[in-house]
Parts: sequence; structure tokens; C-alpha cells
Amino acid sequence: MQKKVSLTGIKPTGTPHFGNYFGAIKPALELADRYQARYFIADYHALNTVKNAQEMSDHTYEIAATWLACGLDPEKCLIYRQSDVPETFELSTFLMAFTAKGFMNRAHAYKAKSTDNLAAEKDVDAGVNMGLYTYPVLMAADILLYDTDIVPVGRDQKQHVEITADIAQCINHAYDQEVLRIPEPIISESVGLIPGMDGRKMSKSYNNTIPLFLPPKKLRKLIMKIVTNSQEVEEVKEPEGCNVFGLYKLFATEAQQDILAAKYRAGGMGWGHAKQDLYEAIEAVISPMRDRYDAFIQDKDYLDKVLLDGADRAREIARNTMGRARKAAGFRH
Ligand code: ADP
Ligand code: TRP
Repeated sequence: MQKKVSLTGIKPTGTPHFGNYFGAIKPALELADRYQARYFIADYHALNTVKNAQEMSDHTYEIAATWLACGLDPEKCLIYRQSDVPETFELSTFLMAFTAKGFMNRAHAYKAKSTDNLAAEKDVDAGVNMGLYTYPVLMAADILLYDTDIVPVGRDQKQHVEITADIAQCINHAYDQEVLRIPEPIISESVGLIPGMDGRKMSKSYNNTIPLFLPPKKLRKLIMKIVTNSQEVEEVKEPEGCNVFGLYKLFATEAQQDILAAKYRAGGMGWGHAKQDLYEAIEAVISPMRDRYDAFIQDKDYLDKVLLDGADRAREIARNTMGRARKAAGFRH
């Protein structure tokens, strides 16, 4: 039996950090064993906020190199740029005719922005472009184009996938046939929120991230700056709820975690010591991936080749889906 299809979109809006790795990259790559996995760089989604060519291009390559370094096998699964698949925009226009405007008013991306505007006593639509307003339609096109069964996403994106399913159902109903496959969101509950430098959720928006592939010296320097309480060396410390220990758990084995927890509880361990242990645990996991990343990021020709080859294969699937939609609608197909 053919494996089901999973699809993941990644916006090129920042340098990948530990939160992205544990919350999105690692779980999405694990799906590649059980599903036909498709990954794409959602650059048209990023265009809503990124209006600088260099930034767009740098982040796009960074993401491609990161996913390859983390283990994405381009022979086994698809990776491509959204902007290299023009069928996406054709399907997106098609979907518009089946999308209730009210849906867009309630969609998360727009709602979050408009609610912030109202709270700040600004015009409800200040800073909102049509790309942001119709964000779920483009996202629906991304998903529906590839006969996607499951979409692994963070909690905030669940509603967008549900809107996608609604739009697809509306089209299938209108033409009384299965023009588009109905997807469902998969929320990975097992990974909690990864804490940042200050203990809040690690996020670009909080400026508290640890980039995934910092050079070792810079990484160590940053780790030494992680916020802790002001307990003295000799004081007994509690690992649970500690920011440093929270990160340590992600990288260390259970045995290593027990050892560090015992040091916390024995007293006589300073924060510098705990952070050094954290740094070493991170290095052990990250350093082979960073070596691969450094090689990929210097070879843009290779990255372009992988992405264009992916786009070629993606377009074959996309043309097929678009053909079905065109036929159903009575267009030349
Ligand atoms: P940021 O919050 O830095 O802007 P994004 O919103 O671009 O990150 O997130 C991209 C993906 O990484 C999403 O799937 C999101 O759920 C995941 N992610 C980001 N930060 C974290 C975190 N601190 N813990 C777990 N997952 C995260
Ligand atoms: N909206 C997603 C995010 O903000 C990115 C994205 C765009 C996406 N298109 C998608 C995710 C299709 C899954 C499927 O993270």
C-alpha cells in the first residue's frame, strides 16, 4: 500500500534555533520513515513580512542547509521552494472562489494581528496586507496541491489546516467528486515548549533564542549568559523548573541527567559549572550536524540543485492536482 503523505511548510523568517529544532524539525523528520514526506520553504508566506531580498535569500538557504544537516534525505523525500511551484498560486486563486470571507476574519494569523491592533487602540487593520489576510488560502493551496493526508504543525496552525479541510470539502461537494484530498492536522503534544535564554518560550519574538549552529565559542558564550536565579555556589539547588536543566534534558542521556541533578541537590555547584555541563552535552549532539551545515551553507549551487530538483518533482504532482481542479470546473485541462 502507498504510504500516506505528510507535508510541512517552513517560513524563512529567521535563523533556526533550538525551539525550532525540537518543536518542529526533529518531529517532522521522524515522519519520513512512515510517510511520503514533503517539506517546503514557504517563501511567499514570508513575503508578507520580509521585504528585503538578501534576508529572504539568506534565510531560505539557511533553512535548506539546516534541514539537510539535521538528516533530511532529498532522495527519499521532497524539499522545494514554494516560489518555484507556480501551480500553488493558480490553485490559491481557485480556492478563493470557495472561501468564505468570514473564515478569513476569524483566521488565527489575521486575528492575532487585528486583536493586537485593537488592544493598542490602533485601526483594526493597521499593518495588515492582503497576504496576511488571505494567509490560510495560500496555506490551503500548499497543502491541497500535494494530496496531503497529514500536516504536522504547532498548535497555532491547527485552525489553518481545519480551514483547509473546510475549503476542500466545499469544492468536493460543489462538484460532487473527490477533487481534493482532505488533510488533517497532527499536533505533536509530546514536545513541550523549549525554554529560551530567559526561561520564557524560546522565540524570535522574545529575542531569547539559541541559534542551532552557532560556532562553538559563541555558543559557549551564549550559554554562560542563560538567566538563572542568584543562588550562591554552596546552596542546594532544584533542577526541576531550572532553565539550564530544562535545556540539559533535551541533550543529555538519562544517566547524565541523574548525575547533574545530584550535583544540583548536593550543594557546592555553581551556575557556571551547570552551564559548562550543558554546553558539553549540546556540543556532543550538535557538532556533527554543524559540520554538515557548514559544508552545505557554503555550497549554494548544491542547495539550488536540491531545491530545483525537488520543485521539478513537486510540480509533477501539482500539475496533476491542478488538472483535476481545472477539469472539475470546466476549464481546459
Ligand atoms: P518563533 O517563535 O521563533 O518565531 P516560529 O513561529 O517560526 O518560531 O516556529 C517554527 C516552528 O518551530 C513551529 O512549528 C513552532 O511550533 C516551533 N517552535 C518554535 N519555538 C518553539 C519552542 N520554544 N518550543 C517548541 N517548539 C517551537
Ligand atoms: N503557516 C506555517 C507557519 O507559520 C507555515 C506554512 C505555510 C505551512 N504553508 C504551510 C505549514 C503548509 C504547513 C503546511 O509556521
